[in-house]
Amino acid sequence: MSIPKSTREYRSQGDEYKNLKLQDSPLTQPKATEVLLKVHAVSLQYRDLTVSKGRYPNQKKNDIPCSDMAGEIIAVGQDVKNYKVGDRVCPNFALDHIHGDPTKESQATGLGGPIDGVLREYINVPVHSLVRVPEHLSYEEASTLPCAALTAYNALMGPVPVKGGDYVLVLGTGGVSIFGLQLAIASGAIVIATSSSDEKLKIASKLGAKHVINYNKTPNWDEEILKITDGRGVDHVIEVGGSGTIGKCAKAAKYAGCISIIGVVADGSEGINIRSAIGKALIYRGIQIGSVKQFEDMNRLITAHQIHPVVDKVFSFEKAIDAYAYLESQKHVGKVVIRVSQN
Ligand SMILES: NC(=O)c1ccc[n+]([C@@H]2O[C@H](COP(=O)([O-])OP(=O)(O)OC[C@H]3O[C@@H](n4cnc5c(N)ncnc54)[C@H](OP(=O)(O)O)[C@@H]3O)[C@@H](O)[C@H]2O)c1
Repeated sequence: MSIPKSTREYRSQGDEYKNLKLQDSPLTQPKATEVLLKVHAVSLQYRDLTVSKGRYPNQKKNDIPCSDMAGEIIAVGQDVKNYKVGDRVCPNFALDHIHGDPTKESQATGLGGPIDGVLREYINVPVHSLVRVPEHLSYEEASTLPCAALTAYNALMGPVPVKGGDYVLVLGTGGVSIFGLQLAIASGAIVIATSSSDEKLKIASKLGAKHVINYNKTPNWDEEILKITDGRGVDHVIEVGGSGTIGKCAKAAKYAGCISIIGVVADGSEGINIRSAIGKALIYRGIQIGSVKQFEDMNRLITAHQIHPVVDKVFSFEKAIDAYAYLESQKHVGKVVIRVSQN
């Protein structure tokens, strides 16, 4: 394949996703330790809505949005050894988070926030950020892995890894939570899922959730969870709600249960209750997506269990703004994807 001289890319105007601007930019050759990727698919996150409004911490002005993509290597720099043209790959969310804990420096390499992201046709990335796409996955499916899947995996496999027979609570049916459900089940856990919608809960049940609760119809869902677990509570919580759900999650957790602090989708004003944290010896752990090493580990689990990410809807590159609107409507279950290339 000949290397293109330019790439189409979306750029934020710092206000609304509706004003994302599609433009042409010149494309540079990969540096010695970089590869040039043809972007096949990009998936959207809740974070991308925040970024599009210019409200993300340390965000680059007028950046190219989005962190998650899957693509194909079309050129390699002269010092690249382990990858070749044609390989199917995803760059990690934070390009320089290779292993171990995140750092201020690795955080500053988060795609589609502090640095330009992936909503474009071609991108050069450092070879150290790459992870191979599991063979059984399409580009659309693989584009959902870098943020949502890896965050859920990191939450479940942290200092207190999930064990077979553990109860895992997932809140709502968005990207992180549905991966939490799938990865927990693959690890032998029992999943309790909540949602605003009975229709969405049917999908969660089909995916293997053993217990489902509509949090609108059952506002005291924490009490329901204690009933389900015979008063013991859940071992792990994939906590994506934040101040609207954290109090109930603490009540629904078992003594020394692990609550992974991930997101802020639920309105509310509660913080972590120190007395209940001490009284129940709860473990609260903030999550910052994950490393290349964790991404590789996760892909082995995904391959072993032939897990297919739940892709709710795919939009064309030209209809990227419609994809944002669909994500914002919260009609989706799992992931919303943008198909960038036609072949
Ligand atoms: N810390 C990290 O590393 C990290 C990584 C990824 C994402 N995040 C954060 O995690 C959160 C989720 O991200 P995402 O991309 O998975 O979001 P998403 O796909 O947009 O999912 C949002 C879903 O949240 C559910 N929800 C809304 N209000 C709720 C409530 N009161 N209780 C329970 N569920 C509720 C809804 O599901 P139902 O309609 O089924 O109720 C909604 O569809 C965001 O805050 C995001 O910024 C953090």
